[in-house]
Amino acid sequence: MFPPWTSPEAAAEILQRGGIVAIPTETVYGLAGNAYDPTALAKIFEAKKRPHFDPLIVHIAAMDELKNVAAEVPEVARKLAEAYWPGPMTLVLPKTERIPDLATSGLSTVAVRFPNHPIAQKIIRLAGIPLAAPSANLFQHVSPTTAQHVAEQLGNIIDGIVDGGNCGVGVESTIIAFPDGKPTILRPGGITPEMVKAIAGSVEIHESKSNPKGPMLAPGMIDRHYRPQVPLFYGPVPENAKLPAGTVRIAFGNTASAIPATLNLSPSGNLQEATANLYAFMRQLDKPENQLILVDPIPNEGLGIACNDRLRRAAIRQLPESF
Ligand code: TXA
Ligand code: MG
Repeated sequence: MFPPWTSPEAAAEILQRGGIVAIPTETVYGLAGNAYDPTALAKIFEAKKRPHFDPLIVHIAAMDELKNVAAEVPEVARKLAEAYWPGPMTLVLPKTERIPDLATSGLSTVAVRFPNHPIAQKIIRLAGIPLAAPSANLFQHVSPTTAQHVAEQLGNIIDGIVDGGNCGVGVESTIIAFPDGKPTILRPGGITPEMVKAIAGSVEIHESKSNPKGPMLAPGMIDRHYRPQVPLFYGPVPENAKLPAGTVRIAFGNTASAIPATLNLSPSGNLQEATANLYAFMRQLDKPENQLILVDPIPNEGLGIACNDRLRRAAIRQLPESF
């Protein structure tokens, strides 16, 4: 059957039996499996063609469940959890023995999130187990924000897809680790640095490149990621640039440009709307008839920080001389 649309109840049963199911969350769709079951975890890696050095996020649906997956919760992490869970925030904490090494790529820490999506919560509760779930896309591809996106890439190799409509946030969760107790953002996302600072008092931003010999704080945060097949260029287009016939443009607000806007992330310049549209627009324009995708600059503030992070990873570094 294609696509294998599944009810939350059926999904919970499949998950209890060790299967893998794509589920909606407020950030992006996740490919879920029993976080305690190494066989289910292996199926997730296999379906995504994901390398084993890239650890998974474990999803819970009650504060009480945190103690089953995290061995210790620093005071500042607890405050953040109280402020922003359920929500688009993942906390990296020391793991319990119940979490298999496969989930954490052998690290002694586990990434945990309590999603704020009624269907995700319902499935986790019905299944009665925490669910490991990376984004439900092939490794290094753009994350899915609709059930249809999941079906296109993984529909015939996973055990089911629960359709929960469009994801409201549209980019992955903010990942926060606590090296030396200091809240450190490993990946910007739906919870902004200012929001972290407001609760934690301070916030560090981890730049893996600035200290390549330092501890491997953010495995899987590779530079080339989220990349469409059609080259995407993000930045000011030089005036004498030779653009190919199939150039399309993703606009933001009313930015002036000689190239007509193909799609507009948010005509009114609203960052929340733009973030929710970003991945869907990248997918929509990633078609063989297009030769180049240009994206207007997005302000590097609030949610825009996460958009800039993803666009920088998706983009080619400079425009080719010829196409
Ligand atoms: O919004 C999200 O976070 C979505 C939804 C489905 O919850 N999930 C998601 O998962 O984006 P994924 O697999 O695409 O990203 C997981 C990333 C890894 O690539 C890694 O960078 C980080 O989480 N991570 C996981 N465990 C970690 C750990 N123990 N220490 C540091 N980073 C970790
Ligand atoms: Mg991903």
